[in-house]
This record gives sequence, structure tokens and C-alpha cells, in this order.
Amino acid sequence: MLLMRENGTVIASAQQGYGILRPKAGYAEQDVEELWNAVLSVMKTLSAQYPDEVRRTACIGLSGQMHALVMLDRSGQPLRNAMIWADQRSGSAVESILQTVTPAEYAATALNKLSTGFSLSSLIWVRDNEPEIFDRTDKVVMIKDYIRYRMCGELGCEASDASSSGMFDVAKRTWAWNIIDRLGLPRGMFPPCYEAIDTAGTLSSGIAEETKFPQGIPIAFGGGDTLMHEVGTAMIGEDRPWVANIGTSTTFTCAMKQAKHDPDYRTNTFCHCRSDLWIMMGATLCGGAGISWLRNNIFRGTTLDELNELASSIGPGSDGLIFLPYLNGARAPDNDPNAKGMFFGMTIDHTREHMMRAVLEGIIFSMKNSFELLKRVTGRTSEWVICSGGGARSRLLLQMQADMFGCLVRTTVSAEQACIGAAITAAVSSGHYASLEEGCRAAVHFSDEIIHPIRENVERYGDLFEIYRRLYSSNRLLMEMY
Ligand code: XUL
Repeated sequence: MLLMRENGTVIASAQQGYGILRPKAGYAEQDVEELWNAVLSVMKTLSAQYPDEVRRTACIGLSGQMHALVMLDRSGQPLRNAMIWADQRSGSAVESILQTVTPAEYAATALNKLSTGFSLSSLIWVRDNEPEIFDRTDKVVMIKDYIRYRMCGELGCEASDASSSGMFDVAKRTWAWNIIDRLGLPRGMFPPCYEAIDTAGTLSSGIAEETKFPQGIPIAFGGGDTLMHEVGTAMIGEDRPWVANIGTSTTFTCAMKQAKHDPDYRTNTFCHCRSDLWIMMGATLCGGAGISWLRNNIFRGTTLDELNELASSIGPGSDGLIFLPYLNGARAPDNDPNAKGMFFGMTIDHTREHMMRAVLEGIIFSMKNSFELLKRVTGRTSEWVICSGGGARSRLLLQMQADMFGCLVRTTVSAEQACIGAAITAAVSSGHYASLEEGCRAAVHFSDEIIHPIRENVERYGDLFEIYRRLYSSNRLLMEMY
């Protein structure tokens, strides 16, 4: 959580970590009560450390992970852990959905290919496998919608996150009633859907008393994290640069005035926080997750700064070692829950430092894979990439992105772009800024340094990218075999 002044100055931020539960291979869940307790805890930390600023807080915004499924009973209690974007168990549900609604009909409304880990796939998996939970379900929402509900007692959804559920009419910005009806899902399960900058409610007296935040301050609906990164990097128009975000996953995005999509739906099209914009996005399900995996298994006890140094000791291209970051299956452009990660090209001369660098490079190769496709589909020619998230916090990763994308790279002064985006959205919602444009002008500040691609590195990565691209296609059938 972050406290922001109207001019974008960050007063303070507080964080509390929580893990992903993996009860079986391919499963990825989170306990929403634990997430809510983390929110309460950071609110209390901030109010203990900055009582005056917290007392003057004017509004609250939210940014949350997309695609999740939170199932609530009639009294608003969660019925099970949330199934999240990284969950890959719902392959059979995807198949059964696409037998009821043909892939062409489905895509014509959803403007996306249905993936495992999308709320709809998870919901049908629960209907097929946990019918007693499905039967008790009154409402389904996204994670940040549940957090907001706990803050203000009002239940609702908004288009940017709901458009990632797989059961949304993305062009019309409403629930996809045609798909919902065909699948026999009760319409009443889906709360009313608004826009990110609409006001959802006000902070309840109970939560205000517990956290010392002011009672009655407005809470905006907020949006999906990818969209909040767009606002926090001022990507609120078709004429803006690309945004490359490395969080637990990675996303590469651009804003569009129309809900365009890749003809083969290899990328995603979702609603932007601005109600007249959409985004096209390529996501990899393993960004920071890949770095954590390496750290937990091979570099135990090593800090991120130390890992960065180890990777910096190896030259661009990791002496031919290439990493395919499909540890959580694949979304863009390969959309395959059976996809697996791999190291390719390993020789007796490679060291664990090479593995470290190759993991970082593999994550950015996967973003480049989306970038190349987005360029072809949109015809956009911007040579600028704004980097956000963890990928913007290391000089090494920024240079790697400039070299792989062959673009000028820049980031923002504040490292928490999604939180800044959520704060701007809330301030627009409550009338402190007249528009998202005004909010971004006031609160998004770019750092002075512009990172230029280095020609030899661009060439080296260009050659290796040709091999990277073929690793999945050449091994797809093998990956399916286990
Ligand atoms: C986007 C995606 C992730 C999640 C993670 O499609 O899967 O970025 O939103 O938070």
C-alpha cells in the first residue's frame, strides 16, 4: 500500500508478502482472508507511522491481480481459496466450454482465446469438480473486488479486471450474457459492472476505527494490475509508448482506441481504465516467479542485488545458454497449459552465473516474443518502451530490455507504478483531478535517464531470439507427453 500526495510524491509505502498455495502440481490458489489481513496490516502500519497523513487521506484506489476467481456465499463469505491466474488445472473445463460455445463464437464476444487460469475456466472446473461449493455460490468477483467489499460493504466489479475473466463482452464492456446463458450460469452470480474510475462506496466505520483511516472517504472501483500500470506510466492514449512490466508474471502492452485483437487471439485484448480505450497485451506467466524459483532452489540465501551482480558477470547471450520461462505453462503467444520450462544449449563450461543470466534473458525473450507480435498486429511504430515493476528496478534489466527490444527505454521515478495508477484513478473518481490526463500530468514523473540499445547486444540477442522462438514449437509435442 502506498500513500501519495496530489503531485505524485510518495509519502510512504508498506508491504506484506503472501505466497501462492500449490496443493497439487498445476494448482495455484490464495487464501483471500490472508490477503485481506495483509491489507489491514499495511493500513495499520501506515497509520502508526504516518498518523497525520493517514488522517488527511482523501480517497482510496485499488489495483489487483487479474483473472482470479473468488466465490462468495449469500452472506459474502468466501467459499474456497481464490483460484488465480497461474492455475493450470482447468484444461478440461476449457475444452468443455468450447464444445458448448464454439471457439469462433466465444472469441467473437470475449475477443480472447479462453485460457486456463481465467475466472471462467476456473468456475466451470469448480462446477464440475466441487459441485457442493458451486451450488452454494451466490456471487463471483475478482480479488481486489473482494478487498473493496471488505472495506466498504458494497459488492461490484469493473470492466478492466472483469474483461480478463473470460466471460466478458470486451467491446461492449459488459458481462458476456450470451456466453453466460449458453453455459447455464445464473446471471445473478455476476455483480453489476462499472468502470475503474467510478466510486464504489465509502470506508466503513468499523474498518476506519480499526485502521485509523478516515471514515466515509470514497473508494474507487480500481482496476486490474496491468491496467493500473498503464495509468501509473501515463499510458492513457493510443499515441503513447509500449509498457513492459515484470512482476511475478510479465506483460507487454499498448493502448488502443478500438478493441482490436490478434486474428489468431495469440495476444489478449482487455478494457483499459479509460472507458474509451482498450489494451492489447502479451503476458508470460513466469517473470519474477522464475527469478524466485532459481533463488529458492539454486541460489538459496542470495539477495536480489547479489543475483544481479552474478548475472552481470556474464556477457549478453549467456554464452549460448537459453532459458524458456514456461514454468507455469504459457499464455502469449503460445497459450498452452502443458508448456514447460527448459534450459537449452548447456555445455560443461556453463556455470550457475550463466543460469542466472539466462533466466533473466529468457524472461525478456518471452516479452520480446509478445512485442514482435503486437507490432505486427497493431502496426504501431513507437520506439519507446516504458519499463515498470521489478523489471524497472535494476539497471541490468533495463539495459537488457533496451538491447532485446531494440528500443529506447525509460522508467518512472516511483517504482510502484500500479499503486500510483490506483491512487490517480481514485483521485479522478473523487474529483481531485478533472481527468486521468490531468492526474497523470500531475503525478507520473519519468526519470531523466534514457537507456539506449547497444548495437552489438541487439545483434547478439537478435540471433539468439531466432533459436528461442523455436524452442517451444520444436518441443511442444514432447511437452504434452508428461
Ligand atoms: C495478466 C496476468 C498477470 C496478473 C498478475 O494477464 O496474468 O499480470 O494480473 O498479477
